[in-house]
Amino acid sequence: MEKILIIDDDKIIRKIYRATLTKEGYDVIEAEDGNIGIQYIKSENPDLILTDYQMPGISGLEVISEIAKMKITTPVIMLTGYGDVALTIKSIQKGAFEFLEKPTPPDVLRETVRRALDSVKISQSLPDITTLNTRLDADSENNFLVGKTPKMKEIFKNIGMISMNKVNVLIEGETGTGKELIARLVHLSGITRDRPLVVVNCSALTETILESELFGHVKGSFTDSIRDKKGKFELAADGTIFLDEISGMSHNTQVKLLRVLQELEFEKVGGEETIPMRARIITATNKNLEELIKEGKFREDLYYRLKVFTIQLPPLKERKEDIEDLVIHFMKKLNKKFGKNVTKIGDGVIEMLQDYCWPGNVRELENTILQAIVMSKNDVIEKHNIVLNTALSTNISDRSQVLELKSLSEIEKDHIEAILNRVNWNKVEASRILGITRPTLNSKIEKYNLAR
Ligand SMILES: Nc1ncnc2c1ncn2[C@@H]1O[C@H](COP(=O)(O)OP(=O)(O)OP(=O)(O)O)[C@@H](O)[C@H]1O
Ligand SMILES: [Mg+2]
Repeated sequence: MEKILIIDDDKIIRKIYRATLTKEGYDVIEAEDGNIGIQYIKSENPDLILTDYQMPGISGLEVISEIAKMKITTPVIMLTGYGDVALTIKSIQKGAFEFLEKPTPPDVLRETVRRALDSVKISQSLPDITTLNTRLDADSENNFLVGKTPKMKEIFKNIGMISMNKVNVLIEGETGTGKELIARLVHLSGITRDRPLVVVNCSALTETILESELFGHVKGSFTDSIRDKKGKFELAADGTIFLDEISGMSHNTQVKLLRVLQELEFEKVGGEETIPMRARIITATNKNLEELIKEGKFREDLYYRLKVFTIQLPPLKERKEDIEDLVIHFMKKLNKKFGKNVTKIGDGVIEMLQDYCWPGNVRELENTILQAIVMSKNDVIEKHNIVLNTALSTNISDRSQVLELKSLSEIEKDHIEAILNRVNWNKVEASRILGITRPTLNSKIEKYNLAR
């Protein structure tokens, strides 16, 4: 029988809650203040704790802190007399599983208690990723590259080859497929390892600024140039210069870059001295450069200079076998980064992720995992913690065929309903996912006449 501890100084409240819970078959123990409660947590080892916030002696928040100090993972539900947003936030931050206003309607109490106890059971039934896949354990570095599909293995081999020679490399791939990560890896895994790595985003800067970034400038060469400045080519020295989003480079700058590649030297903007160019050039693009060449937007001669070696990164939807390893990798990385300890993956989660089309590729997967970790109430990522942009879940080519001629309010209604169903009508969770307050959610439920 599952044991529930109620900590509350109000005898009547304890009696009402006990009545509801014993009817459900739980074993209930009562404590009239926080200190006694903590004693019981140690001696009785309850499966769930309900604690009042305001009590004589120590507060509900302090009870949660004490539990955390004891390294006990028993879920805690915080009870309070008034709906205080700040307190809700604080108790959830401290690790409360849920927050209930007193008096709690019996069905809400039953449902919340059930959910909290289930979350423990689900967690206990699942393997822990920190004990899984030991081969990923050495990935303390952010530069770890996950991939076991043949295409990715081929890429690893190629990185091994090119990193020992300073050939120029062009990396092609959709947004978020890991182009920058690959560029860093090429730099770090070979002869350039101890040399500088300099990154320039060629699409984010205007022509003048980009040229002064790349080549540097001498004092007075244009209005803002109050002193000499070294360019990125000079700073990269005999290391690597990574030219990201090369497709955005203007025609003039392309000509200048081509000259650098041909002559292996350049001058600062406004300067006369020639500076040798010794860096390896890695470029990345998420646009198809061959198309841009046909449209006259990219120089063909420059293209052939840059793509001495080409790495084509496949979109994530073409390597679904990597999704599980990526999820585990991101859980470890993000737990560490955000001080969380979500180490288990619920049933059906990987399949759900494999069914999605990932237009934002690996970056989108990483963000999805981060969001799931933040939303997880225990140490498990469960299906309802995963929020996918399912409006996009068909291929781009299919999308126009499935476009339904709906009004915005119809879409809003359907989306709210879908989210509510996904989270089992847990309105706290639904309003969090939807980014609206609970009263707003309630008014929309009423407006659209939604029901379970
Ligand atoms: N194979 C992989 N293994 C582990 N992490 C990866 C992998 N591929 C990408 N990532 C991670 O995904 C995120 C996006 O990768 P990155 O920034 O390299 O993509 P990109 O192709 O440069 O994207 P964009 O075109 O939008 O600039 C990063 O956090 C990166 O560490
Ligand atoms: Mg990038």
